[in-house]
Amino acid sequence: LRNSKIAGIGHYVPEKVVTNHDLEKIMDTSDAWIQERTGIKERRYFEEGKDTTANMGAKASLKALEMAGLKPEDVDMIIFATLSPDYTFPGSGVLMQRELGLHNIPALDVRNQCSGFIYALSVGDQFIKTGMYNNILIVGSEIHSSGLDFSTRGRAVSVIFGDGAGAAILTPAENNETGILSTHLHAEGEFAEELAVLDPGSIKQERLTHEMIDEGTIYPYMNGSTVFKHAVQRFPEVINEALQANGYKPTDIDMLIPHQANLRITSFIQQKMGLPEEKVYSNIQRYGNTTAASVPIALSEAVGEGKIKKGDLVCLAAFGSGFTWASALIRW
Ligand code: ACO
Repeated sequence: LRNSKIAGIGHYVPEKVVTNHDLEKIMDTSDAWIQERTGIKERRYFEEGKDTTANMGAKASLKALEMAGLKPEDVDMIIFATLSPDYTFPGSGVLMQRELGLHNIPALDVRNQCSGFIYALSVGDQFIKTGMYNNILIVGSEIHSSGLDFSTRGRAVSVIFGDGAGAAILTPAENNETGILSTHLHAEGEFAEELAVLDPGSIKQERLTHEMIDEGTIYPYMNGSTVFKHAVQRFPEVINEALQANGYKPTDIDMLIPHQANLRITSFIQQKMGLPEEKVYSNIQRYGNTTAASVPIALSEAVGEGKIKKGDLVCLAAFGSGFTWASALIRW
């Protein structure tokens, strides 16, 4: 079995910046409330007719390919993580394949929300390990802003989320001491409805009713305190699992890239892991929570800013709806 590595990483965010003050104009909220509870100052919202979940994924992918010195034609598989696909079906993976002008190669959608990118990375890693594929695009892309409840009822959720995309190209590593050292995946379906969009789904005989729209069950529901409680437990757990599996301790980490859920959750993880602030990457202030896109956007920015160098030990970790949680340990 051979290790895989991230040979290139890239991201794309829509141009439209929406600040907390902009939200104050369209809903009952305040910059102070949002910053104090989440750390978020602004986020990006897509522009209709310009940005789609699939084409943002394609733009991020082209940057990742460029960094790796590869062309779209070199890609032999697409794994696309999103909770906000362009259509209910088919998935956004095939749409991105079309966008990139590719044919015949497999395209797989992963529906694991905030953990989606790390789940997708783990799936891709297995295909490289066995030798089945050589150049796999791993994508996380989300358009949340078209599906949020901007009424007072939905404000605790809607101020958190933003739009954007990130992508990585996974290729065989030079040797088994570098690249992705291990991935760790978990789920607990007992909490499925604690963070979810419940309607319209196949669980109801009548797929879409006026009541669903009026009662707001077509929008994301989040039990904020339950999510917080589980997140601050599962993040350190799954980071430690990755470290122990490879014989490392927390202080060996050069850069931790946590899913950008909420700055308070990130601060809690940083303190619990005993890491200095500069070893835990945060950009939620500028992008909000972009779910499956948050880890690759953060990784791409950290690499672009020179905060991750060859040989560094990098840990990716995520927790979210499902509940699902995951980590990956990488010798960069
Ligand atoms: N602006 C102004 N006031 C608001 C807003 C808003 N956007 N949202 C809620 N409020 C008000 C409420 O109406 C309530 O007012 P009241 O006391 O008069 O009734 C008050 O603020 C407190 O509301 P809560 O819902 O109890 O807010 P809480 O303090 O729990 O904060 C939050 C909500 C930020 C979501 C918090 O529960 C939290 O941090 N949860 C963790 C979950 C999380 O961050 N998830 C991220 C996405 S999931 C993921 O990626 C894993």
